[in-house]
Amino acid sequence: MKEILISREELAEKCRELGAKISEDFKDKELVLVGILKGSVVFMTDLMKEITIPCSIEFMEVSSYGTGATSSGVVKINKDLDMDITGKHILIIEDIIDTGLTLSYLVDYLKTRKAEGIDIVCLLDKKERRTKDIPVTYVGYEVPDEFIIGYGIDYAEKYRNLPYVASLKDEVYRK
Ligand code: IMP
Ligand code: MG
Repeated sequence: MKEILISREELAEKCRELGAKISEDFKDKELVLVGILKGSVVFMTDLMKEITIPCSIEFMEVSSYGTGATSSGVVKINKDLDMDITGKHILIIEDIIDTGLTLSYLVDYLKTRKAEGIDIVCLLDKKERRTKDIPVTYVGYEVPDEFIIGYGIDYAEKYRNLPYVASLKDEVYRK
């Protein structure tokens, strides 16, 4: 680990702030929170406790073809929604947006499901790396172009359980 970027207290405060906004913005809608496995689980469980309006939860799991630290843009859906989302309002919960390719693919895919609306809440945004412009409704924090771990986010399936967001030393992932 290199350094802690966002502390556990700051993350808790951010979830309160986002939860309040979401509760207000979706108050008369049929809201479905769609967590993208596995990275979003820690953020999702904290965020949903701060949402004060009725909502249901769903999960999708996607993987990007190719290995290593960057995504290829070709996305494979490993687990799809269980629920019919016709007429419902989807809020995709994502851990981190990098190039934007994963979310862009996912939004296009969900658009075919006749949802009433699709919004995105993303905890972390590596804005300078974006190649695909997609509208993210709520962003927690902008982060620098470094390899991020913790609070659900992994490097080779490890570090997800760290209670804070941190950066990983370059020599670990640039091998
Ligand atoms: P994108 O398709 O390039 O936007 O990549 C999004 C996905 O790549 C995220 O959902 C993460 O799973 C993964 N990812 C991007 N940046 C990082 C990082 O710094 N650490 C760990 N995973 C990352
Ligand atoms: Mg992810």
